[in-house]
Amino acid sequence: TSVQAYRASLLHFSGDPAFDEHATRWHGDGLLIVADGKIVAAGDYDQLIASLPAGTEVQDYRGKILTPGFIDTHVHYPQTDIIGSPAPGLLPWLNTYTFPAERRFESGEHAAEVADFFLAELLRNGTTTAAVYCTVHPQSVDAFFNRSSALNLRMVAGKCLMDRNAPDFLRDTAESGARESEELIKRWHNKGRQHYAITVRFAPTSTHAQMKLAGELASQYRDTYIQTHVAENTDEVKWVKELFPDSRSYLDVYDQYGLMRERALYAHCIWLDDADRARMAATQSVATVCPTSNLFLGSGLFDFAGADRLHMPVSIATDVGGGTSFSMLQTMNELYKVGRMGGTHLSAQRMFYLATLGGARALQLEGTIGNFAAGCDADFIVLDPQATPLLARRSATTDNLEEQLFALAILGDDRAIAATYSAGKQVHQR
Ligand code: GUN
Ligand code: FE
Repeated sequence: TSVQAYRASLLHFSGDPAFDEHATRWHGDGLLIVADGKIVAAGDYDQLIASLPAGTEVQDYRGKILTPGFIDTHVHYPQTDIIGSPAPGLLPWLNTYTFPAERRFESGEHAAEVADFFLAELLRNGTTTAAVYCTVHPQSVDAFFNRSSALNLRMVAGKCLMDRNAPDFLRDTAESGARESEELIKRWHNKGRQHYAITVRFAPTSTHAQMKLAGELASQYRDTYIQTHVAENTDEVKWVKELFPDSRSYLDVYDQYGLMRERALYAHCIWLDDADRARMAATQSVATVCPTSNLFLGSGLFDFAGADRLHMPVSIATDVGGGTSFSMLQTMNELYKVGRMGGTHLSAQRMFYLATLGGARALQLEGTIGNFAAGCDADFIVLDPQATPLLARRSATTDNLEEQLFALAILGDDRAIAATYSAGKQVHQR
């Protein structure tokens, strides 16, 4: 075994700081010990240094903060090239920019080239795990998992199911979509660090027949993920009511087809009512909150108070290319403002929890990623509180942990990620 050790401030979580005041783990002068791609120990430098095998080199990151790698629970890799495209709202944006861009992924070569750029961009921003939409084309999924495996990253991804209300070049059928999804599950699910997500794009682009087959796959392969969009935009909600008149609500469409369970990721969850929120909690389905996307597309403001009141599981995500940044720090910045508009004050510690252990819990991967517990994958990042002149100046004004982290969340971006490690290997350095 080869042992690596890193001296820095360490920040991670053992629970949700919003509900547990002892959840934050902070070691101002800390040591992180890694062997064979896994965490061995994390704690105070003074206490751990004696346990290092003689001759182990200690990488000196003093002045920087090590945290677990960020987890982005909802992002579209085929939309990398259309980030920041102008359109008046979700449905025009899909038709004008998204669908034409996704057409190009019928080419596996194009898919591999975009996947490489996308994964490098995630790592530059400190994101080591993401739940990723591919396109309707199975080759877009093969290309993505091939590139992710080559880098040994832990990723969740799946093929979009869409058999109506989309251009014919982006449609499968209920039968072909289910068959291709099953083949991809067998090829990729739990292969090394790759995990499959059954991906119903959203209710308007699937027939009843397709939803039914997706629900059957989800109950046959219980440990796969499910990912979809729900209640993002009021025009979309109205459309779903017309397409599925027998459902009590938009979310209820998915519920009726057996698509609510653990490992089910529901993007946006803006226009839910309390019955929906209670159903999310009862089934342990997880909302993926996408603030930069929701503001950019004018979709609406996620209701944190409502989510907390009903104990609805939440995680946070970029939703690139509807989202406007790959940075989970920029995502926190916008998340905070969305919270404020609803009267909520989100602490920096809660936001960092949501970007790390909270994401791991959303993916049912606590103990594997998300904190520095012994045995976890050594997926971690080096945050630089002095990354820019303004950050350095702001950080110098305070010793208070919450204030330091808050400034990083509000002012930070990819420049604040000094380095990224995946399975103990450095995969990005600024
Ligand atoms: N709803 C259905 N497809 C999409 C998508 O690609 N992005 C967003 N933001 N919402 C969607
Ligand atoms: Fe999305």
